[in-house]
Amino acid sequence: MTKWTPSNWRKLPAKHIPTDYPDLDKLAEIEATLSGYPPLVFAGEARRLKQRLGAVARGESFLLQGGDCAESFREFHPDNLRDMFRVLMQMAVVLTYGAGKPVVKVGRIAGQFGKPRSSAVEVRDGVELPSYRGDNINGMDFNEKSRIPNPKRLLKAYGQSASTLNLLRAFSTGGYADLRNIHDWTLGFVAGSEQTRKYQEVCDKISDAMEFMQACGVTAETTPQMSSTELYTSHEGLLLGYEQAMTRIDSTSGRWYDTSAHLLWIGDRTRQLDGAHVDFMSGIENPIAMKCGPTMEPDDLLRLCDKLNPANEAGRLTLICRFGHDKVGQHLPNLARAIERAGKTVVWSCDPMHGNTLKTASGYKTRPFDRIMGEVKSFMDVLHSENLWPGGVHFEMTGQNVTECIGGAIAVREEDLSSRYHTHCDPRLNADQALELAFLISEQLRSYRVANSARLAS
Ligand code: PEP
Ligand code: CO
Repeated sequence: MTKWTPSNWRKLPAKHIPTDYPDLDKLAEIEATLSGYPPLVFAGEARRLKQRLGAVARGESFLLQGGDCAESFREFHPDNLRDMFRVLMQMAVVLTYGAGKPVVKVGRIAGQFGKPRSSAVEVRDGVELPSYRGDNINGMDFNEKSRIPNPKRLLKAYGQSASTLNLLRAFSTGGYADLRNIHDWTLGFVAGSEQTRKYQEVCDKISDAMEFMQACGVTAETTPQMSSTELYTSHEGLLLGYEQAMTRIDSTSGRWYDTSAHLLWIGDRTRQLDGAHVDFMSGIENPIAMKCGPTMEPDDLLRLCDKLNPANEAGRLTLICRFGHDKVGQHLPNLARAIERAGKTVVWSCDPMHGNTLKTASGYKTRPFDRIMGEVKSFMDVLHSENLWPGGVHFEMTGQNVTECIGGAIAVREEDLSSRYHTHCDPRLNADQALELAFLISEQLRSYRVANSARLAS
């Protein structure tokens, strides 16, 4: 076997990586520039996330991964980042409370730009143009110039990722994430909602518990977890030229780490066993994830696991299932049993977004809340009945009050979609819908906890 290098993928078939840059020399020059830029994350942080995910694989923690379908240059604003951070923290509080276990928080953020598209072209009013492929490749505006891939966008995406990460680090450790502030994390626009009322109830219980612990000598000073948090970054490792440029040898371990994010995932469209993306991900030491859609067969999955996690290391590989609400029951049991029989250690996570997209009569891509919830619930039930841990969830969401997914407690109706439909790609849960889901999952996790204690007691 030849030794892996970060450029190995260039010899292999690669899907969804644009090759139609008008100036390929310029692209190569920009990739070389990026390879001299500072890393966005440290190898030690990626190793710590792998340990945290190892705990998820063992059923000791729960994974919450979420963020925009696609980050954009236009929506880049500190308030948007704060709102995303805030809703992730609220969800994590609710889930920790229900699961009675730590929650590992991972954003689809600080690098989630490039998108695989189902069609290479977009047609509007009889005009055909290349599809929008993410702000690090081309522009969303529907005109010929904007849709031409421009390598300078990679530099802008790097810059935006760096400042996003800087703010997230400040939010995580600079006092904002202090558990004593949990009451204040409620977003203005959902202040009167049912989810907010339930959230405040959980906060009251946590505050009581913290006062009790303080009286026992456990304070934010003695326990830093009470005043700061860990939020890790992730994105789909799609544009391998960029990922290669960000991949460096870590001086501590002498191993290759992709320093563009803590965790990278392989999309459902680029997980070919002998393809470029699987080869690239097989060589980096970061924790990685892979999307599993309805076309994933158990044999393929086992071969992919062997290639991506040959040492069967806990926390290295997360399988993000995205079958669709009506297909989980058909596909998940076979995959779960195959993994179990082969003795593979993985984190099982559920993306209830990508298998539940539909188009309304008026032409909006949307996702019904009931189907999203239905997929999560079936995912959890299937794994629980196989005696496996439904380890995590993966959402496309925002802290903004958008109207992109229909349904939820403050029901977004089909006719509301046009009022605040801001996504650059797929429809996202708004903050209230995201929190509602966190409550429903939390209740499910609590019911498993109660059932397990009863089982132990009998
Ligand atoms: C995504 O997560 O945005 C995505 C494209 O998902 P999938 O690879 O599952 O289609
Ligand atoms: Co998406």
